[in-house]
Amino acid sequence: TAQLDDEARHILRANDKEGYTVPTKGLYPFQWNWDSALTALGIATYDANRAWQEIEKLLSAQWDNGMVPHIVFWQHEEGYFPGPGEWQSGQTPPTSGITQPPVAATVVRQLASSLPGDHGARVTPMLHALDRWHQWFADARDPDGRGVVAIMHPWESGRDNLPDWDEPLSHVDTSTVGTFLRRDTQIVNEAERPQNHDYDHYMALVQFGRNCQWDVKTIAETCPFWVAEPAMNAILRRAERDLVALALQFNLPEIARRATARLARLGQGFNQLWSDDAQGYVTLNLRHDKKDNRLTSGSWLSLYGGPENDNRAKAHYSTLMEWRRKISFTVPSFDPNDAAFDDIRYWRGPVWAMINWMIATGLAEHGRHDLAEMIANDTAALIAKSGFREYFSPVTGQGGGGKDFSWTAAMWLYWAS
Ligand code: DGY
Repeated sequence: TAQLDDEARHILRANDKEGYTVPTKGLYPFQWNWDSALTALGIATYDANRAWQEIEKLLSAQWDNGMVPHIVFWQHEEGYFPGPGEWQSGQTPPTSGITQPPVAATVVRQLASSLPGDHGARVTPMLHALDRWHQWFADARDPDGRGVVAIMHPWESGRDNLPDWDEPLSHVDTSTVGTFLRRDTQIVNEAERPQNHDYDHYMALVQFGRNCQWDVKTIAETCPFWVAEPAMNAILRRAERDLVALALQFNLPEIARRATARLARLGQGFNQLWSDDAQGYVTLNLRHDKKDNRLTSGSWLSLYGGPENDNRAKAHYSTLMEWRRKISFTVPSFDPNDAAFDDIRYWRGPVWAMINWMIATGLAEHGRHDLAEMIANDTAALIAKSGFREYFSPVTGQGGGGKDFSWTAAMWLYWAS
C-alpha cells in the first residue's frame, strides 16, 4: 500500500491548481463543491495548511444570498460544457447557478479535531459562511418549512443520472433547448456517461434557471423539477449537527442556536422520505407528491445523517447484505435488483468511494463496525484492482469515468488504506 499512498499523493498534487484541487483534469477542470471539500480530507494527511485552504477557497465563492455554488470557474478553460456562458450567474468569479451536497461543515469538523493547533482564527469565518449557506438551504430550498430540502437540478444532488430523476425529468419541457456540443463524451466512453436524452433535460433546467436569473423564489415556485431526496437531506442533517458542535467549541452561540433550530426541523422532516414498501428512504417528487419506491446508495446515508431508530437501522443492514449477495463490491449506487441498474453508467449502479466513506461512517456510529469494515475493504480492493478511478463497477470491479480522480485518492489516504 505504500505505493498506492504515493500514487494518491501524486494525484492530489498534480490536480492542485494553487488553492483548489480539480476533481480530474480534462473532464472536470474547475473547482467542484463537494469534490473539493472531500478532497481536503486527503490533503490533510500530508499538508494541513493546504487542506484548510481548499475549504477557504470554496467558501470565498459564496453568493451574497448564502449559496455556495457547485462549480467555481476560477480560470478560463476550454473544453467543458456547460461553461460560464451557459450558466450566466452574474458572479465574479463566474460560477454555476446551483449548489451541491453540503459536506463542508462535516469536513471542517474532521479537520478541526484531527489537525494539531488552535484553529479558532481560521475556523470562525468558515463557520459564519457555513451558517449562511445552511440558512440558504432552509430559505431557498425549503421555503414552506417542511423539513426537507429540494433540488432543482439533478446536478445539485451530485448523483447526476440516478434513475430516480427519470420520472421527475419527464415533466421538463426540452423543446427550446436546441443543439449543443457535449464535451464529456469526447473524454470518457459514452457508455459510462449520462445519455443525450438526460443532457437535453439538464440543459432545459439550466435554461430555466438562467431565464429567471437564478431567483430562488421563482425557482421554488415554478421550477418543473423539484425533488427531495435522502442523500442531500441526510448530508445536510449531518452538516448541521457538525456545525452545532463546531459553533459550541468555538464559542459562537448565535450560530449554534440557529443550526440547532434548523437541525430539529430536518430531523422531523426526514421521515417524509421513508417508504414502507421499500423499507428505506426514497426520493419524493415534491412537485407531484409522488414517491419513487426504489432504494439507492443514498438511502443508507440516513445512518450518517442520523441518528436512526433500531427497526429502520435493521432494515438497512439486511437490505445491504441482500445487495451484497447480488454483486461483488459494495455499495452500488442503485438497487442491483432493479431493471434500471447499469453497473458502469455513472450513478445508475457504480460504486463511489466517498459515498462508501459516508455510509461506513454512519454504520460505525450505529455500532456496525463489521459492515463498515466490509465497505472499507471493498473500497480498498476496488482501488487496488483498478486504480484511482472516478467510480467502479460493483459487478466486475472495473473502473469507470475519469482517471486520477481526486476524491478517490483522498478517500484512500484518509480512510480506506
Ligand atoms: C458533469 O459535468 O458531469 C458534472 O457532474 C456536473 O456537475
